Amino acid sequence: MKQAACILFLVMLAGGLNVSAQKKTIAQRVDSVLRLMTLEEKVGQMNQYNGDWEATGPITKDGDKQNQIRRGMLGSMLNVTGVEHTRQLQQMAMQSRLKIPLLFGQDIIHGYRTTFPIPLAEAASWDIETIRQSARVAGKEAAAAGVHWTFAPMVDIARDPRWGRVMEGAGEDPYLGSLIAAARVKGFQGRHLGDTDAVMACAKHFAAYGAAIGGRDYNSVDMSLRSLWEYYLPPFKAALDAGAATFMNSFNDLNGIPATANSYLLRGVLKGKWKFKGFVVSDWGSVGEMINHGYVKDNYEAARAAAIAGCDMDMESRSYIKNLVTLVKVGKVPLTVVDEAVRRILTKKFEMGLFDDPFRYCNDARAAKEWDNPANLATAKKMAEKSIVLLKNAGGLLPLSRTTKTIALIGPFIKAVRDNLGFWSYEWPDDSSRIVTTWAGVSKKVGDGTTLLYARGCGVTDSSRAGFAGALAAAQNADVVVMQVGEARDMSGEAKSRSSIRLPAVQEDLIKAIQATGKPIVVMINAGRPLIFNWVADNVGAILYTWWLGTTAGDAIADVLFGDYNPSGHLPMSFPRAEGQIPVYYNHFSTGRPAKNDSDLYYVSAYTDLPNDPKFPFGFGLSYTNFSYSDIRLSSAVLRPDQSITATVTVTNTGKMDGEETVQLYIRDLVGSVVRPVRELKGFQQVSLRRGEKKTVSFTIKPDDLRFYNDKLEYKFEPGDFRLYIGGNSRDVREAAFLLKAD
Ligand code: GLC
Repeated sequence: MKQAACILFLVMLAGGLNVSAQKKTIAQRVDSVLRLMTLEEKVGQMNQYNGDWEATGPITKDGDKQNQIRRGMLGSMLNVTGVEHTRQLQQMAMQSRLKIPLLFGQDIIHGYRTTFPIPLAEAASWDIETIRQSARVAGKEAAAAGVHWTFAPMVDIARDPRWGRVMEGAGEDPYLGSLIAAARVKGFQGRHLGDTDAVMACAKHFAAYGAAIGGRDYNSVDMSLRSLWEYYLPPFKAALDAGAATFMNSFNDLNGIPATANSYLLRGVLKGKWKFKGFVVSDWGSVGEMINHGYVKDNYEAARAAAIAGCDMDMESRSYIKNLVTLVKVGKVPLTVVDEAVRRILTKKFEMGLFDDPFRYCNDARAAKEWDNPANLATAKKMAEKSIVLLKNAGGLLPLSRTTKTIALIGPFIKAVRDNLGFWSYEWPDDSSRIVTTWAGVSKKVGDGTTLLYARGCGVTDSSRAGFAGALAAAQNADVVVMQVGEARDMSGEAKSRSSIRLPAVQEDLIKAIQATGKPIVVMINAGRPLIFNWVADNVGAILYTWWLGTTAGDAIADVLFGDYNPSGHLPMSFPRAEGQIPVYYNHFSTGRPAKNDSDLYYVSAYTDLPNDPKFPFGFGLSYTNFSYSDIRLSSAVLRPDQSITATVTVTNTGKMDGEETVQLYIRDLVGSVVRPVRELKGFQQVSLRRGEKKTVSFTIKPDDLRFYNDKLEYKFEPGDFRLYIGGNSRDVREAAFLLKAD
């Protein structure tokens, strides 16, 4: 009894119940707890389980997890949400000897109660502030549901759309990807980590997961360290600089060593060079999966390798909880390794205020307030509108007139509900009334004088053409046809890599049949990735890329269709013409035999059966109005190491509508100690222009903007000739030249 009282006093002291404890730094408080912990309890903090949760069912199917929680053998759980459920589990943790609170993690990737456009769609907005707001709403809603930690943002650069997880990221470019990574971290973590409307962010998947060979999920990654630093690490560094509380290592092996136990990545780069103070959680089971990799022979060795390499928390593989105590006792893992990992984990628990009040995120009133907050839906709709990309508008078919007499809405996604949510989203019983379908959005938008006809026409991949007749009939009776085709929400995402990313044949056939009626057609494409749809791109007059836009999808689509929002999206990934062209990306090298044009095939780097350039280039996006670029000027043709130059261009809205243009700045370093890309995005500005208005847009270029990793991995700029390009995408640009002097 006496001992228990003593422990309780020490815990209260550490836990800050003692007045003077409030003055202790978090580091001191962590040390106070660490000193009380047994080795078993320390390893328990490094252990994370999934929460076998069923919406109204018991907390766990087997009693074991509950007992482990009560014995302090669990540091965190994932996939447990809701004030009631997290409170129950936390109450169990408070029955443990030291009452160390649990952390609840969850994949809040693009929304919780309010689903936002998928991250790749958000990236197409190039609107960094709205992307931050999107993550802010997600963080608020998650924190209100008892969640402490989201496993987001996913910041993997990806150049291969066969990889289903491109939908979760920000596309192919490290500059855009870095800005978006930082914005999402700041959105999730809010003003201050520990505020009850904020959740810890988790930069994932560290690292280079998006470069899986063949775009096949979980496949190996093999690249030079130079490429790793130049293209794949920058968004992670941006996330860390934005204050990301945690990182998640990736599944893949990198140059032969699984990221889970890759000490170059975890200790060398992240905790060493970058001085990361948070903690690293493994991906689901990735510690144990190193057996499959052939990197270790059993879970005992897996635990040793991962812990020593710097993986602090084992998600779901049970390697740590079953082996680390022994590994420390026999001297195969130094106790300092465990202490460091636990110190990192406890520090976050203190920063989240969980030691002061383990139930501070379990607040029914706050949960109710965030549950159907109209402001959240308004932000989602703004984000959705900005995510839509206009790929074609030949003949100015768009925007449609509200007084159009009859509109036929045809295709498998016109009335789809949950397919608007994308892969990483939450389903709620009232989804059918909350999610705005295209049909619902358009119905609200048009007046009484407009008749809407509907035909599904075909399935998503089912080859049946039974619905064609009905679709044709609807088209025949309409003045204009709006079609919505593409991928279902489970066709992109984790473990959804595909060797063919073509628009399903039955859908293309339906479009061809409708096209043959001669009616004007708008085709909208729902997808989680770039798809291949060459015939549609070449033959249909108006095309919108509508991704998966979330809860407010139909409203955003209707605003764009009828011109209440002039589309402003720009592609964050290159769209290939064929799978055989992959990887195709804008910041490629010139090679020794660059093709001058599509017909130049004489011993050059080209395909004999396909042009080199993508169907739609990185940065591409049209508007209902037109923007012209002129008068590109540099403040000087010479840039010295201690100076900067200013590039200016005049952008004119030459069309009939007000609109927003994303003015993009690219550079090319003509000669380097390693070859340099033909384009590198180095800046962009979003400018709103009323019809007829012109603005001068300026960019400042400093030598630091021209740095790259040389073959010694030194991050330097090199004197020489540069080209500078400004335009509305990576292909159609105005050019200027400058010389970077050595001194
Ligand atoms: C998944 C994903 C990861 C996610 C984790 C928890 O396998 O790879 O992104 O955060 O497991 O659900």
